[in-house]
Amino acid sequence: MSLLIIAGSSRKASINRRLQERLAEVAESNGVQCYMYPPAELDAPIYNGDYEDENGVPSNIQKLATAVKEASKIIVVTPEYNSSIPPLLKNAIDWSSRLDTNPWAGKTVLLAGASPGQFGAIRSMNDLRGVFCNLDAWVAPAVASIAKTDADKIAELDTDFLSKFMRQGD
Ligand code: FNR
Repeated sequence: MSLLIIAGSSRKASINRRLQERLAEVAESNGVQCYMYPPAELDAPIYNGDYEDENGVPSNIQKLATAVKEASKIIVVTPEYNSSIPPLLKNAIDWSSRLDTNPWAGKTVLLAGASPGQFGAIRSMNDLRGVFCNLDAWVAPAVASIAKTDADKIAELDTDFLSKFMRQGD
C-alpha cells in the first residue's frame, strides 16, 4: 500500500502544504509508505495546444503521471481560489490528461483542503470532484475540509478519516 499526497500550493507558508505534511506524518506513523509530491514540481506553462505541439507534455508532468500510476491511493490537498481550483493544480491535471494514457483512470482519490475562510476549500473540492470523475478516478464521498485554518487546527486534526480511506476497498 502506497499513498501519494499532492498539494496545490507551492507557497512557502502554505497551510495546504502544512496539511499535506500532517497527513503524511499520520500515514507514515500508521505504517503506510507515503510520497509527498513537491508542490513546486506541479509548475508547468499554462496549457496551450501550440506549446504541446512544439514541446510535448512537460517532463515534470510526466513524472507526476508516473507517481499517480504507481500509487495505490492518492490524496489531493487543495486551496480555494475564487470558489474554485487554484491554477497550479488545475493546470497540472489538465496537462496530465494530455498523455497517451490517462494516469488517473481507476485511481482512488481523497480530497482535502484548507482555507482561512469559513468554507474550508469545500467549493474547490466540489469542482475537483467533477474534474476527477471526468478522468475516471473514483473520488471518496467524504472530504477533509478545514475551515478557519491555523497551525493549531492542522496539528489537532482528527485523522480518523485517513485510516478509513486507507481501508476503503480492502
Ligand atoms: C484566495 N483565498 C480564498 N479563500 C477561500 O476560502 N475562498 C476563496 O474563494 C478564496 N479566493 C482566493 C483567491 C485568490 C486569488 C487567492 C490568492 C486567495 C484565500 C486562500 O484560501 C488563502 O490565501 C490560502 O492561504 C491559500 O492556500 P495556501 O497557499 O495557504 O495553501
